[in-house]
Amino acid sequence: MEKKPVKIVETVLRDGHQSLAATRMRISDMLPVLEQLDDVGYYALEAWGGATFDACLRFLDEDPWERLRTLRKHVKKTKLQMLLRGQNILGYNHYADDVVKEFVNRSVDNGIDIIRIFDALNDVRNLECAMRATKDAGAHAQGAIVYTVSPYHKDDDFVKLAQDLVSMGADSIAIKDMAGLLRPYAAYNLVKTLKEKTTVPIEIHSHCTSGMASTTYLKAVEAGVDIMDTALSPFSRSTSQPCTESEVAMLEGTPWDTGLELQKLHDLADYFQEVKKNVGYDFNLNMDIPIDPKVLTFQIPGGMLSNLLNQMKEQGSADKYPDLLKEMPRVRAELGWPPLVTPTSQIVGSMAALNVTLGRYKMIPKQVKDLVRGKYGRTPAPIDPAIKKLCIGDEPQIDHRPADDIPPQMEAMKDKLAAAGFPNASIDDVLSYALFPDVALAYFNKHRG
Ligand code: CO
Repeated sequence: MEKKPVKIVETVLRDGHQSLAATRMRISDMLPVLEQLDDVGYYALEAWGGATFDACLRFLDEDPWERLRTLRKHVKKTKLQMLLRGQNILGYNHYADDVVKEFVNRSVDNGIDIIRIFDALNDVRNLECAMRATKDAGAHAQGAIVYTVSPYHKDDDFVKLAQDLVSMGADSIAIKDMAGLLRPYAAYNLVKTLKEKTTVPIEIHSHCTSGMASTTYLKAVEAGVDIMDTALSPFSRSTSQPCTESEVAMLEGTPWDTGLELQKLHDLADYFQEVKKNVGYDFNLNMDIPIDPKVLTFQIPGGMLSNLLNQMKEQGSADKYPDLLKEMPRVRAELGWPPLVTPTSQIVGSMAALNVTLGRYKMIPKQVKDLVRGKYGRTPAPIDPAIKKLCIGDEPQIDHRPADDIPPQMEAMKDKLAAAGFPNASIDDVLSYALFPDVALAYFNKHRG
């Protein structure tokens, strides 16, 4: 059989600690081994974006842009990859096109090589602006398929999405399986079809939440996947990615041998074991997260299940938890079967929780109404007509790209920041402020005096 080495993207600096350590890894925890990571021969290091930007400012007293420049200074050979939520950038709602473009430009200028771009609803209109900006900035634009399971998500839909992304200029396609729902044989079929129907490299990104991801990776490899995302052992498995060392060992001596040296990975794993201990101690984290095959039935990512249970305990309604597990898929169906990923997971979850505590759709949050209005984009299936009526009455749904309704924001952000005492703010600071005004301002007041 012809040799076809599988490429590895190491996620320990982003998704690994985002999944297992509440995104609390600091740049000081990374610094001592950046050259060593650079020396492994990874295809890329996923090291920025996702929740790390918010966490830097909110919890770690770090400037996320400074973190990126530091990473770039020490990682000279390996590509740096980030995760971007399309028109939501790294925040939780839609931003104007000028903010998206500027954010992408500055990410690339500060050192990012590959941007993985996704939209919670798989609505390509929400990816257009970020994809174009990435291409214009000369970086690698990776389009992501948000994987989920529903009566409205067939392989054909995912393949069509991948083809649309490629025609928009995607340099590669990622299958983003955030809840670990992708089963091994489903992965085999999906990867095989994507390889047949598209011309770009295919990358697999899964989580071990349901306990299947490593097996899923093996079937994806057999089907011809080009790249897989893994995390060094201390930050792998349970709600994170499969383990780098195990996956590398699994493929050793096969046609898909990654060529990475296990000894180098063991040394790094020893180092990150200590980081895990320190981060857990300093931030009082419970990192003993078991796998949770219930996610396959209830479609709720593991972290979210425990958050919802805690909320219900606080409201004294923990006895309604079994009802919530049944309510969640029902609400998801009524709201048009959105995949459950930031921000739709929170939107569907909070609606389901309110339904079981106060009665069905007695109290409807603004985000639910906005989802029904079409402000997050097109849902995979139509909204249930009766629920639509309850949410927005006879108000029409929008059928255009949601960001078309948002006027440019950059100048207004500069003015606001000037009024808050920072008239000469850098463009990076303006972007931090645009995404997270309160925490950014608190950071500037402390560090930009
Ligand atoms: Co992930």
